[in-house]
Amino acid sequence: MNKMQDKIRKIYEEIEAFTTDRKDDLEQFRVKYLSKKGVITGLFTSFKDVPIEQKRAVGQALNDLKKKAQEKFNTIGDQLKKREDKTESVNDVSLPVHFQEPGSRHPLSLIRNEIIEIFSRIGFTVAEGPEIEDDWHNFTALNFPEEHPARDMQDTFFIEKDPDIALRTHTSSAQIRAMEQRKPPLREIYPGRVFRNEAISARAHCIFHQVEGLYIDENVSFADLKQALYYFARELFGEDTDVRFRPSYFPFTEPSAEMDISCNICGGKGCNICKYTGWVEILGCGMVDPDVLENCNIDSEKYTGFAFGMGIERITMLKYQIQDIRLFFENDLRFLKQFTSAI
Ligand code: DAH
Repeated sequence: MNKMQDKIRKIYEEIEAFTTDRKDDLEQFRVKYLSKKGVITGLFTSFKDVPIEQKRAVGQALNDLKKKAQEKFNTIGDQLKKREDKTESVNDVSLPVHFQEPGSRHPLSLIRNEIIEIFSRIGFTVAEGPEIEDDWHNFTALNFPEEHPARDMQDTFFIEKDPDIALRTHTSSAQIRAMEQRKPPLREIYPGRVFRNEAISARAHCIFHQVEGLYIDENVSFADLKQALYYFARELFGEDTDVRFRPSYFPFTEPSAEMDISCNICGGKGCNICKYTGWVEILGCGMVDPDVLENCNIDSEKYTGFAFGMGIERITMLKYQIQDIRLFFENDLRFLKQFTSAI
């Protein structure tokens, strides 16, 4: 290769490596390579001195070089122009804005937060338990008899057998962990996700949410339970809300009850939501069974307490008159957009 070709190759490499995001640099590039007094014009001038037998190859290389320089200049020029246009359009206040739709909280989060708010005003703090539980915390410590149907494969998603590990079927398991880890007085609520092996329908889902509550101290009575839950119902559903307690059964409370509120849709007159009874059930509750306290090494002679548990989906459905539980899990924006709040 002769000297001329060597020079062309070096310049070619220089041009190839050139890059900039500044107009000034690009102008310098143009002057250096592409102007009348530029390097490439200079090379074309010396072309006449190239020996005849090399003219063809050198000529070709020179043409390639010129093409390369022009291309480089054009590409960078285009890029800089695009960027300039963009900046200009950002500064143009008369252009229409791209409206960013604000997100909104999921209705279940809204109601969960509201429940937490309400109980925190009467001294309850929030704690959580694990979603994967052992048999002790989900069943045995809560006094579920060995053959209780809730332990059945029908209801529980087991992860392991012997020893049994399962997805918790209720947040009551979190009370056991709390009583094992912390000693009374305890005044806590435990929101969380629970799992049951159930067919999905408009009224039931295999994944849903609960809030569990627990209050353990000396001299806690059923009257305290009623007062706390009455307060809660009126805070959440409005001050005209009435409550009633019906005797019920849960293995871990004695006595046990279910609490109904006066139907917030028809105001107690009767409608299809309350099945024309004027009442809708919203939670289970009761005095913590002394055996459960003892299972957690709490002296049941000294301490008493109450517990309650409610389904967040159910309460949200009642509050917002939602007819199908599946809507909570479908992420349909037309549904979700209807719930906006700062909480
Ligand atoms: N764990 C019960 C359920 O999932 C709800 C419940 C009822 C919780 C009574 C309680 C309670 O703490 O006292 O249906």
